Amino acid sequence: MTALSNRPVWKTFCEAARSSPLSSVDVRVIHAADIDVDLSTQRHSPALTDASTELLAQQGFEQARRDLFEGGIVNWTENRPAWHTALRAKSPPAAVAQDIQLEQARLASFIEKANSHNLYRYVVHIGIGGSDWGPRLAVESLKGRSSRRTIRFASNVDAHAITAALEGLDPHDTLIIVSSKSFTTTESLANAACAIDWLRANKIKNPLDQFVAVTANPKAARDFGISDDHIFRFWDWVGGRYSIWSSIGLPIALGLGQDALNDMLAGAAAMDEHFLTAPIELNAPVQMALSAVVNCSVLGYASLALCPYDARLQNLVPWLQQLEMESLGKSTMLDGNKLDVPSSPVVWGMPGTDGQHTFFQWLHQESKGAPVDFVLCAKPDHRHNRHHRLLIANCLAQRSALLEGKSFEEALAEVRRTESDPQRAAILAKHRVHPGGRPTTLIVLPQLNARHLGELLALYEHKVFTEAVLWGINPFDQWGVEFGKKLAGDIERRLDALGSDPDVSPYDASTAYWVKKLASG
Ligand code: F6P
Repeated sequence: MTALSNRPVWKTFCEAARSSPLSSVDVRVIHAADIDVDLSTQRHSPALTDASTELLAQQGFEQARRDLFEGGIVNWTENRPAWHTALRAKSPPAAVAQDIQLEQARLASFIEKANSHNLYRYVVHIGIGGSDWGPRLAVESLKGRSSRRTIRFASNVDAHAITAALEGLDPHDTLIIVSSKSFTTTESLANAACAIDWLRANKIKNPLDQFVAVTANPKAARDFGISDDHIFRFWDWVGGRYSIWSSIGLPIALGLGQDALNDMLAGAAAMDEHFLTAPIELNAPVQMALSAVVNCSVLGYASLALCPYDARLQNLVPWLQQLEMESLGKSTMLDGNKLDVPSSPVVWGMPGTDGQHTFFQWLHQESKGAPVDFVLCAKPDHRHNRHHRLLIANCLAQRSALLEGKSFEEALAEVRRTESDPQRAAILAKHRVHPGGRPTTLIVLPQLNARHLGELLALYEHKVFTEAVLWGINPFDQWGVEFGKKLAGDIERRLDALGSDPDVSPYDASTAYWVKKLASG
């Protein structure tokens, strides 16, 4: 396959993107399920629309989207489907319907029993990456609405995490959930062992009776000592960072109620419907993906800032970091050739208005800055109306300032109000110029509830999938994380050889220096 940058369709796409202005007079808002996606401040023009349509066609978008929803082998390197849409479908595809509905029924019955017997006032969720960010985001962002239990999360292998998660809980009234697709992840198994020790130290005779496993490897969970009726499974055809729609959603139902989990699934299904049926021009995930490819591969923006203007959505940033960067942080295309255009921006950010006091200086006046995704909830879930007005005003103001900027003339007029020396005023004005012309997307939820959160997560999942189609890469594998994991295992064994003189010959000099120094304790 010809390198992407040499293909005529790509060249046309780039030319159209470069010659499409950022408009401050057009409004382009796409309604996707209950969410409004405002792309007015992304590059757009009839020529870019035509070029985008042609590029999507040549990259096989329609067939790829069908394969995604029909269980095709979209994860080529692992020869698997990526069928997270099946998990939330009102009528799951026949091939997997029975499996899905059986596990959903098992989970619902476990939750019903726990609720009717008032079991597990506390839950400690052990998992990492895709087995953590989704449940953590959902529970932490929605718990203000209705929380039945205290749910804590431990992901990091740094023992401070599991220690803090267990601190102060009643061991007799605590459930430990171990969520791990592989059930081999070092961090999660180490934290699970720590939880067993904690239960034993508190005179719990059979600690594993208070464990639940959520995994695609039930045998490993059984070998760990967890009983079958406490093992909830999902399947290899569900990617880890796409698994919140499976039994990985257990802490959401335990913490917020089964309805919350069902509403999230329904919201995601509504966004699936939009992605499947909306015409390209009115398809929010597709248009977000096209803007992302323009910004990253054509205009050379190396990062994307995500600023949810809702403090409850602070975990949306790390959730999207994993979704985007673990899915798109690749440079090998389907046919094994190198992807020769920049892909996958670095995703970073934090909730507004904190971000305004942290990095918005950079966004406004660094020479290039970065595109920003703003997320806003139209209605607050509190009675502090002035706070919410201030939040909305700051979000809209920052976005407008990034677009419009401030000219030298405007800055000079501002400076001259206090500086009489014309030479000094001219120099000071230059420091106040804001280049402007910085692309942003505004995503507006009616309010933050389980359904709308489900829509938002599915919106980004499909945006990432469409970007991968445009770049011709596989968004569902993660070979880049395996190498480091293996090395860590080798080094840990040498560090474990306390007192002996570990063989450090395989390592670079600095690694060897530290293995020897730290192994000596
Ligand atoms: O980060 C690598 C990764 O494999 C992720 O894809 C996954 O979500 C995470 O580690 C945890 O893996 P597991 O769910 O198998 O414990």
